[in-house]
Amino acid sequence: MKRFILGTLALAGVAALLVGCGNGGDGTRVIGFSQCNSAEPWREAMNKELEAAAKKYDDVDLRIVDAQQDNSKQVADVENFITMEVDVLIISPNEAKPLTAVVERAYDAGIPVIVLDRKIASDKFTTYIGADNELIGEAAGKYAAEALGGKGKVVEIWGLKGSTPAQERHDGFMRGIAEYPEIDIIYEQDGAWLRQRGKEIMENALQRFEEIDLAYGHNDPMAFGARIAAEEANRAGDMIFVGIDGLPGAEGGAQAVADGMLDATFVYPTGGEKAIEIARDILAGKDVPKSVTLETARVDSTNADQYK
Ligand code: FRU
Repeated sequence: MKRFILGTLALAGVAALLVGCGNGGDGTRVIGFSQCNSAEPWREAMNKELEAAAKKYDDVDLRIVDAQQDNSKQVADVENFITMEVDVLIISPNEAKPLTAVVERAYDAGIPVIVLDRKIASDKFTTYIGADNELIGEAAGKYAAEALGGKGKVVEIWGLKGSTPAQERHDGFMRGIAEYPEIDIIYEQDGAWLRQRGKEIMENALQRFEEIDLAYGHNDPMAFGARIAAEEANRAGDMIFVGIDGLPGAEGGAQAVADGMLDATFVYPTGGEKAIEIARDILAGKDVPKSVTLETARVDSTNADQYK
């Protein structure tokens, strides 16, 4: 008897969970967001933007899970959302390939999927939202060429190589400097998007090369880390530091430009608000675009005050 009661309670629990997921009584719709790593300023900002946008609607229940930069954890997180039968899945995949199959599974199970900022290696999703990372990389390359007067030695600190913005920001940069054969990338390493890794990579570069004219970080934290390394080696003086993200706020890249710690950055919006808007459209049965391109902007000493 006891076992029967426990079994029934367990079943009721599962049922409550499933009902909680949208298809049930009170009309609340569950949006599951699989975040690749919440422990970065830009991702914190993304979570906050999503939460603020979701809060505007009484019938939206946003659930955020953090994969902590771990592909297998993120696969498990998405599997949970599939089991829960969330009404919409939003995902910012840590790396493209390891997350592709599970996102396809969600999509094939009939769950609308919004891919945010980083891409997967498949068309099986509903909408992709993000700024054009190749264009941003190209703008960074053009800025570098301008700032260097067409000639100089560059250290490039990559984002996590298996994540699409890293490859795109690299490809774009190469296009931006293509007309300048005297700009050399003398050292490039994967900094995994992390400030500390950016600092270590720059420390290595500083030890190996007597001349470094510019450090290009695929995001602001890594560019900032490079700046700190150069300062500690007393070599930051004439060096140029370029990042991407341009986050507002005291710790953000725009402030770093205003303070002269970075020379330029490029705004990379998190897309949180847009993602909730698209999710709402999907839930309302509206047609949504396959791709939404967010705006970017160059932030340098002339306009940093506007963006900080
Ligand atoms: C945060 C972050 C941002 C970067 C984006 C690229 O995880 O590294 O700094 O712009 O991801 O996906």
